[in-house]
Amino acid sequence: MEEWFTIKIGEPCQQTRQAGPAAFLAVTQQEQLMKTATRIKLKLLTISALMAAAAALSIVNPRANAQQPLSQQPKPAEQPPSSYLFPLVVEPFDVVRARDKEAKPRVMAEHQKYLDERYDLRRHVDENVHMTRGKPIPVGPTAKLKGGVTWEQLARMSPDEIREKGVFPYLPLPHIEQAVGGMVFTQPQIKEVPRLERFDMDFDLPEWFLPEFPPAMFLTTRKDLGDVSRGQLVTLTNFFELFNGILNPKQLEGLRLLLTQFPQQQFNATDDRKTERPDGMQGIACFDCHVNGHTSGATHQVGDIRPQANRRRLDTTTLRGVNIQRLFGSQRALKTVEDFTEFEQRAAYFDGDPVIATKKGVNVLERGSQVHFMAEMQEILDFPPAPKLNIYGRLDRSKATESEVRGEELFFGKANCVACHVPPFYTDNMMHDLEVERFYKPHMEGGMMMTAQGPLKTFPLRGIKESPPYLHDGRLLTLEDTVEFFNLVQQIGLTQPEKTNLVAFLRVL
Ligand code: HEC
Ligand code: HEC
Repeated sequence: MEEWFTIKIGEPCQQTRQAGPAAFLAVTQQEQLMKTATRIKLKLLTISALMAAAAALSIVNPRANAQQPLSQQPKPAEQPPSSYLFPLVVEPFDVVRARDKEAKPRVMAEHQKYLDERYDLRRHVDENVHMTRGKPIPVGPTAKLKGGVTWEQLARMSPDEIREKGVFPYLPLPHIEQAVGGMVFTQPQIKEVPRLERFDMDFDLPEWFLPEFPPAMFLTTRKDLGDVSRGQLVTLTNFFELFNGILNPKQLEGLRLLLTQFPQQQFNATDDRKTERPDGMQGIACFDCHVNGHTSGATHQVGDIRPQANRRRLDTTTLRGVNIQRLFGSQRALKTVEDFTEFEQRAAYFDGDPVIATKKGVNVLERGSQVHFMAEMQEILDFPPAPKLNIYGRLDRSKATESEVRGEELFFGKANCVACHVPPFYTDNMMHDLEVERFYKPHMEGGMMMTAQGPLKTFPLRGIKESPPYLHDGRLLTLEDTVEFFNLVQQIGLTQPEKTNLVAFLRVL
């Protein structure tokens, strides 16, 4: 009996794969001539199992019956729509790498041209206003206005009018190469950590629009110590020396895991990767992006949207202050830091595709002894000090300038930012749909579908001057741009002096 099964299961399957359903039916008919009733029953069972298997094969791999040479296989553009991003690598790694490297200057030039059309990317900073370790903050607005309109004219136009004229300056920001996506690390970081370089693309925004590298690190548990990174990039090689005696053993182990590389879509040991360095093939650490528990400004692409053109670019969020938050991820709204930590490596690292994750080496974290420790470490990462705020998160009038006081009045009054950004941390821990699509028609641009983006998390504004660029995709390069953005989105008609004051207030949060 066993033997009979083995042979029969193998045979029709082979034939089906090569010759398709017709041969499968022929096999079926031929076999129905068999004599005993038991055999017929068994056969029917076997056949339905085989049909299911064949169907499953064609879902997982749409080219399962294609034995033809590579050149005759369908090219990506001709493939039917699929939720699976890269179902099968059909070319050797060397070939893909050579083509990617050859195309890289073109890819970067094209994207740069697109960015230059949208933004004034020249260095313009305020030397008097610094992030904790001294990097001056960038000043805008950087968005270029189209069709000769001024900011004042734009603010007087209705959303319909702006949409009709096609002059909205803050469209969603496409990924460097939207069709490919993935994690891309900034140049200042790659200089220190070369394993983070990709051979197919570089990061796109100039260094002055990014957080300082490495950033300071503050602990809620040891506020007395100030910057516990002591000006260093915290890595697997120095964390013990820096934190032994400051963290408890559980937090130390959590930190070790946050600093350990694990396989990821572009950084892994398979033929489907974008690193050519052996140390890059070991993967990515949480703190490669969330450098020192803050952010490097590295970019990514959201895992849970299809098709590819609709996927959002994601600017790495800071982990400072996750302890006071209740929702995690700009749109996923996961409910705990533990959940985020556990799912990040299983799904977001691999574009939300567990099939690919298995191929590339998913690192499954154990909830009780790993996720929990990593979360406890994240939960003590504090916002930077804000010496001008009192215990309610409001301005201490004895320390504030006149412009900052006016800015606070606007924030809580005419500009009504407080409707969503509630003190002391300036978040309501909610999602809001800003309906930014009121201002533009759906269209393709930079490889991305410009369309409605739905509800997004209200990010806290504490320490905000240290984490440019802004919004989930980083489309707003400076605080001035965020004020111009909300001036349009909320239709509040701020004057130039009011905008200046509001920015002054945001800088002290
Ligand atoms: C590309 C670099 C990158 C890496 C590596 C990375 N993250 Fe993130 N992280 C992000 C981005 C981008 C977001 C914002 C996601 C969103 O908006 O949906 C984020 C969000 C988060 C959040 C939610 C923060 C918030 O305010 O909502 C947590 C918690 C987090 N990451 C933890 C981790 C952990 C733990 C790891 C390692 C397992 C990790 N991240 C690895 C880029 C990264
Ligand atoms: C209706 C709710 C709402 C109001 C009112 C509002 N915001 Fe926001 N704010 C949000 C949401 C939601 C986001 C995240 C949007 C995104 O990522 O696309 C955000 C993001 C921001 C960011 C970027 C945060 C980051 O980490 O990137 C800044 C800065 C900001 N808001 C400032 C303001 C100011 C200033 C005002 C008032 C002029 C204001 N907001 C009014 C909901 C609101």
